[in-house]
Formats: sequence, structure tokens, C-alpha cells
Amino acid sequence: MAPGARPLSRICSSADWTDADFLARMQAVVPSQLGAHRKAWEFAAALEVLETTEVLNEEAIGLSVAAGHEALVFYLANRCRWMFAVDIYGEGPFGSREGSAAMLVDPDVFAPYPYRRRRLTVAHMDALDLRFEDATFDCVVSLGSIEHFGGREAAREALVEMARVLRPGGTACVCTEVTVDGGSDGHAPGLELFSPASARGLGESVEGLDWAGEVDFSEPPEGVPVLALEREVLGRAIGTLGYPHIRLGIDVPDQGWREFTSACLALRRV
Ligand SMILES: C[S@@+](CC[C@H](N)C(=O)[O-])C[C@H]1O[C@@H](n2cnc3c(N)ncnc32)[C@H](O)[C@@H]1O
Repeated sequence: MAPGARPLSRICSSADWTDADFLARMQAVVPSQLGAHRKAWEFAAALEVLETTEVLNEEAIGLSVAAGHEALVFYLANRCRWMFAVDIYGEGPFGSREGSAAMLVDPDVFAPYPYRRRRLTVAHMDALDLRFEDATFDCVVSLGSIEHFGGREAAREALVEMARVLRPGGTACVCTEVTVDGGSDGHAPGLELFSPASARGLGESVEGLDWAGEVDFSEPPEGVPVLALEREVLGRAIGTLGYPHIRLGIDVPDQGWREFTSACLALRRV
């Protein structure tokens, strides 16, 4: 690894906001995001993985699994031949938020900037049953979603599906929730928190996937405040998010207060 370079698979850290290249990637995907927010980090981390593994080009076919109406799919439509965004739009707890069915009807409403609208296809699809042939995609991303699929085994099954639809040599980039309090996994209703060891185990549990680049899920030392997830969900709805939005906390049944942030898993289809 080059001096100063960070592993592709790592935990979100405020240090990334001091890296000019990383900041430029955040700006490229979400130009309107001013405060430090881990969603912009996930977009930039995914873009870093796709660029480093050289899978973005005018012939590339990309897929975002449980995409909601995320900015990244519009950005990638400008960098790929054809981009697919799939989600169980309109269903479940996110059906009136990130997973709004309006994305199926008129994705342009959610586009943060002009994009090649003939290169984006949006479909209703379960992440555990992707309706695509094997080896279809050059790249697959899934951000902030596998932790909501119904448990650790469902998260792993989603990775199995992603591996199946990736062509050999293709790249998968998965961002999910990883604990940063030194504890084990957490299981809140509708939300899995992976310990750093479990995140590594998840990446290594799927046949046909291997790490792309360096992996380091050690917890970065941080001095940032920990925001309560419940308040942040409400704040997102009414436009009063706290910043820096990097570390979050949640009361987990039988475990108490747990702290977590995003982590990026960069994987290559072998
Ligand atoms: C927190 S949102 C993240 C959305 C988007 N990736 C983003 O980063 O803004 C989680 C998404 O997972 C979707 N989802 C949950 N279970 C799913 C499943 N089994 N298959 C496909 N999508 C699912 C939800 O509908 C929701 O859009």
C-alpha cells in the first residue's frame, strides 16, 4: 500500500474528510452535502473502490442493490453504459422514505443533477432473489442496506446473490453498519450491527468473492460526538440533522447502548 493510502475495506473515519481525493469524490456524488455525513462517505468509499478496481467505463454494466433513491445511482449512470437500481420499493419500513415507490415511476424527481436518464433502469426486486443472469455485471454496490435484510444470514445470502450476478473480475462494494465500541454484534429490531471481526467474516464467507485491496476494520480513534440514531432518523425527516454525522448510537435490547458507523467491504469476483 502506498504511504498514506488507506485500505479500501475500512471503517468510516473523520480522517477521510481531510483527504483531498476523498473529498473530491464526495463532492462529485453529492455536491449539495456540506456537513460531514457518513452517507456521503459511503458514496465516496464506493466510488473509490470502483475507480481503484477499474470497473467504471462506457461499456460497464452496474447494479445497486437496495438502492432506494440514493445519489450514487444517478452519478454511476454518468459513468457506466447501463446502471440498474433495484429495491423492494414501496414496501417495509423504508417504503415511504429511502425506498419510496416514486423512484419506480419517476426517478428524475430524485436526481441531484443532470444524468443520462436512458442509462438508468429502476426495478422492484428482492435483494435475496435478483432477477438477473449469472455473471451479468461489472460492478455491484449496496449501501446501508444489508443490515436491514432480516439478520446476519440474510445479509450473507445477499452477498451470495451479488457474487452470482458479478462477472469474474467484477467488483462488489458493500457498505454496512459496524460497531465501534469494542463490543460484539448487535441485533436491534430491523437492524444488524456487525462487529469488526464479523464484518471481516462476512466478506470471507462467500464463495467466489475475495477482498479487493487491503482490509483493516480496526476502529479509528475519533473525537466526534455520538448521535442517537432515533433522533437522526427524525432529523432527516424534518431537515435538522446533527453534524458531524459519523458515529451513531442506539439502545439495543439486552445489550444497552451500542455505537456504530459505516464500513466499506471491497470485494472482487474471482
Ligand atoms: C437505509 S435504506 C438505504 C437506501 C440506499 N441504498 C441509500 O444508501 O440511501 C435501506 C434500503 O433497503 C431496502 N431493502 C430492505 N430490504 C430489502 C430487500 N430484501 N431487498 C431489496 N431492498 C431491500 C429498503 O427498501 C431501503 O430502500
